[in-house]
Amino acid sequence: MEAIKVFCPATIANVSCGFDVLGLALENVGDEMEVRKTEKPGIRITEIIGQELPLETNKNVAGVAGLALLKQSNYDGGFEIKINKKIKPGSGIGSSAASSTGSVWAMNELLGKPFSKLELVQFAMEGEKLASNVAHADNVAPAIFGGFALVRSYTPLDIVPINTPPALFATVIHPQIEIKTSDSRKILKTSITLENGIKQWGNLGGLIAGLFTEDYHLIGRSLEDYVVEPLRSILIPGFNDVKTKAINAGALGCGISGSGPSIFALSKGEEQAKKVATSIANTYDNIGVAYDIHVSKICSKGVKEIKN
Ligand code: HSE
Repeated sequence: MEAIKVFCPATIANVSCGFDVLGLALENVGDEMEVRKTEKPGIRITEIIGQELPLETNKNVAGVAGLALLKQSNYDGGFEIKINKKIKPGSGIGSSAASSTGSVWAMNELLGKPFSKLELVQFAMEGEKLASNVAHADNVAPAIFGGFALVRSYTPLDIVPINTPPALFATVIHPQIEIKTSDSRKILKTSITLENGIKQWGNLGGLIAGLFTEDYHLIGRSLEDYVVEPLRSILIPGFNDVKTKAINAGALGCGISGSGPSIFALSKGEEQAKKVATSIANTYDNIGVAYDIHVSKICSKGVKEIKN
């Protein structure tokens, strides 16, 4: 195979109680990329449609993640990349992760799959490091493994794929303001109280148990964040209103998607997720902020090949 076209899913990191360790991939929101083998060594980004982003290989997350893979491979050729960027940078639904994972996943396919999924996550994390100064894996892991993925440990890297209940749907609202992950990490504290730690790991355990047993009420009870949301929510206009409306409309839970400004809600069933969408859209209509809204199943496959 000389060339491949891939769908790179948007992702929701943290999922309320799992800051930096839990994420999920969306089924119908994401970027598209085309990666082609070239005789000329190195990586060239030849076209980016949809967003203003650098074409220079070492300034683009797709380029940097790809270079990390090339460095570990014995392939002496190179790659050309075209990106159709549908996820806005700074939206909180894993824009940099989509480009980083699409690049390394496609290259791995074209080289005959020499690398494991875990290794691909490691390469893609280099893209995350370029984007936010921190090589966090909670967007790239679900983008590569699909569904929900837990980063049990960073050193050594240990990714645990988590069961995705089939009726679980996400509603994501993206108010059109940009929040850089690097900025929204600066406002976090470096320590937490034991009291909040106890609540947080109780919820993370509860959420993982709920996902495996497909207990939607347990999932809902566990979607609370005592550590990050109280600090970051002040950066997002209308956050409390959206959360109240989502819960009142029947969502299982609601929180900040990644580092924001997007807000996600999880629901049982597509109809319920659509009802939540209608209810929360009203917040930004009222305060006059433009927004995008998505209702999506959780993507069990993650990054995948698409045919023309
Ligand atoms: N865990 C990261 C953060 C995700 O919240 O900063 C960024 O998408």
